[in-house]
Amino acid sequence: MRIVSVVGTRPQLIKAAALLSALRGRHDEIFVDTGQHYDEAMAGAFFSELGLPRPDYSLGIGGGSQSEQTGRMLPAIETVLVRERPDAVLVYGDTNSTLAGALAAAKLDTPVAHVEAGLRSFDRRMPEEINRVVADHLSRWLFAPTPTAVANLAAEGIVAGVTLVGDLMQDLAARVGAEIRDPAALEATGLGVRPGRYLFATVHRAENRNPAAIAAWIAVLASVAAPDRPVVLALHPGTRAALEAAGLAVPDAVRIVDPLGYRTTLALQLHAAAVLTDSGGVQREAAWLGVPCLVLRDRTEWLEAVESSGGRMVVVGLDAERATAEVRRLAPADRAPDDAARRAAALDLAPAGAAEAIATALAAP
Ligand code: UD1
Ligand code: UDP
Repeated sequence: MRIVSVVGTRPQLIKAAALLSALRGRHDEIFVDTGQHYDEAMAGAFFSELGLPRPDYSLGIGGGSQSEQTGRMLPAIETVLVRERPDAVLVYGDTNSTLAGALAAAKLDTPVAHVEAGLRSFDRRMPEEINRVVADHLSRWLFAPTPTAVANLAAEGIVAGVTLVGDLMQDLAARVGAEIRDPAALEATGLGVRPGRYLFATVHRAENRNPAAIAAWIAVLASVAAPDRPVVLALHPGTRAALEAAGLAVPDAVRIVDPLGYRTTLALQLHAAAVLTDSGGVQREAAWLGVPCLVLRDRTEWLEAVESSGGRMVVVGLDAERATAEVRRLAPADRAPDDAARRAAALDLAPAGAAEAIATALAAP
């Protein structure tokens, strides 16, 4: 098949890299980058690190409000589709690039394939929830990562075209597992942190960018950070701008760093005492790596990650007292370095087989 795939954000570049060889082994791919993420550390660096091809179309549409951004993407994607006349359009996840890709395709009666279909937080205040619901209802192929996602689709009357394929990001994580296992991978980050003697955090969700939420997550991170056990916070540029605009400061034990590369982020998770995040991707990675994880949201659409963690993943929202108690329970300072060393030595991450399953399903008549 001739497939136009539409990406735009950091996690979509990562997912596209996970699918790349399986997809191109069976199909012709035309690769479109909307440019939703545009900083070198958010986008450009992943092309080189993950061996992504140069996009056939770079639309250069980043920034702006939800509707403005989505609105500018629509005619730009439409122009590509009219010119390329693909058999299908492939979109990933739940971003505005996903919504625009699915909508532009549907309006041209071009079938849509949605990777990570069926996830629901059941919170329509989240821009991602709107994007997922619309993309799913416009799709012919719905590639669900989890049984819960399949059930969510069924509950909305969507059964045809649904395939449970597993998690594409697990395929990529499994590929680099051997590279990050060695504590030398941690040294290579240049951050000067030692196994089990730091915590790793990311914060980027829209709901965590208003001043009240920022003050609350700073309090969470401050409550678990200590001078001899810092929090390394890899901060999204949008969150950094919001933090600066709010005029709020973080304590010294919370070390803010620029967004990091893919392997660096995985290595920092694996060797940490614990991870704190509002990211969907980081949450799952923490689950696969077996590292204790505190989810800085009120609810998560990744129920399986929580359920399969044996209590090591907890949804704490922005409750500092709860976070402190959970870090004390899951990663006490006297045990965390040994736990981290054992975890890394035992790491044996299996691929999910999602990339092959997706490429195969798309090839079926
Ligand atoms: C988007 C997705 C979110 C996903 C996240 C992955 C939507 C609605 N949200 O959120 O689901 O989890 O990507 O990281 O699509 N910015 C920069 N440089 C960049 C990119 C963004 O400075 O390279 C700043 C801009 O001010 C921009 C803001 O961050 O306006 C928000 O970026 P945007 O792409 O709109 O949403 P994300 O918060 O990144
Ligand atoms: N990630 C990264 N560098 C960072 C933070 C995250 O490479 O500084 C990776 C992370 O390992 C995961 C993906 O980005 O593979 C998750 O993307 P993000 O958190 O931006 O979005 P979400 O998954 O919440 O949509």
